[in-house]
Amino acid sequence: MTLDSCRAAMEEAVTRYLRQLPDNTLNEPVRYVMAIGGKRMRPALTLLAAGMYRSDVSEAVKPALALEVFHNFTLLHDDIMDKAPIRRGQPTVHEKWNQNAAILSGDAMLIHAYALMCEAPAHCLSTLLALFNQTALQVCEGQQLDMDYELSDHVDHDQYIGMITLKTSVLLGCALQTGAVIGQASPEDAEHFYQTGVDLGIAFQLMDDYLDAFGDPAKVGKRLGGDIAAGKKTYLLIRTKELCNAAQRQKLDALLQDTNQERRIAGVLALYGELGIQHETEQLVKHYHDLAMDHLHAISLPGEKKQPLIALADQLLVRQY
Ligand code: IPE
Ligand code: IPE
Ligand code: MG
Ligand code: MG
Ligand code: MG
Repeated sequence: MTLDSCRAAMEEAVTRYLRQLPDNTLNEPVRYVMAIGGKRMRPALTLLAAGMYRSDVSEAVKPALALEVFHNFTLLHDDIMDKAPIRRGQPTVHEKWNQNAAILSGDAMLIHAYALMCEAPAHCLSTLLALFNQTALQVCEGQQLDMDYELSDHVDHDQYIGMITLKTSVLLGCALQTGAVIGQASPEDAEHFYQTGVDLGIAFQLMDDYLDAFGDPAKVGKRLGGDIAAGKKTYLLIRTKELCNAAQRQKLDALLQDTNQERRIAGVLALYGELGIQHETEQLVKHYHDLAMDHLHAISLPGEKKQPLIALADQLLVRQY
């Protein structure tokens, strides 16, 4: 199964899902956010993993779609929490409608996600539901830590990695393991798939933080410097605190107190530049990408079956959105 065929299968599944939703105000934001698109990376991971075991991956389509709908639900709520005005180049749901709409349409999407996951093949339904429950709760825990850390000045590297593992990476692990379980992988291989996804997810969130500061907003589709404006404890900021000298630290502390957001963003970005934070982040992305590849190589399948997933993981290293 190629990456392109996974993506095509997913677009078709999303279209079918949107078509059967009743036409009402609850579902308007659901259609809006799902139709704008996004990379559809989580369902692609599920289909790629299932595709390593069988040529017909139709049994994996509903669970894959469940994870994409769940992901989109988290974005609706995340954008409220992060006060984000733009997503995928368009106004966020709470901006276009209002917060209540984003909360409630998000809730509906979470329920849709469970309904879709319940359509997983009977032989693995309870396993997949248990994995999905565990993952969904971990995402909530991670999002709460992300909020807690906004208010703390003492977040260290390990706490940051722990937080992004929960809010982002476990869902990528879940996506790969879901495909592997549907493909009836051995428990050892299913675990390696999970760890591949978790390490890729850490690299992915590091890139997300990187793009928030250094990306081209026209490509990223979000507000540049949003994390700096929101007081997020990203790797970029944590590494800056580790590397800066006393004068730079004083400057940083003053900038972080600055209530003028534009000045704060420009000043912190300048410090990132001085300290080579771009390169530092790229190095850590590469480290987690390599860890992911170690787990992928440990899976007992022929190398050529793994090529599409290796290609997707490589794309993550150079992604611009
Ligand atoms: C955004 O995820 C939220 C994070 C976990 C960083 P994506 O970057 O996968 O968003 P879309 O679905 O492609 O828009
Ligand atoms: C999002 O992290 C994680 C989840 C949505 C669970 P971010 O807050 O960094 O994602 P973006 O940058 O808004 O997409
Ligand atoms: Mg956000
Ligand atoms: Mg967030
Ligand atoms: Mg982000």
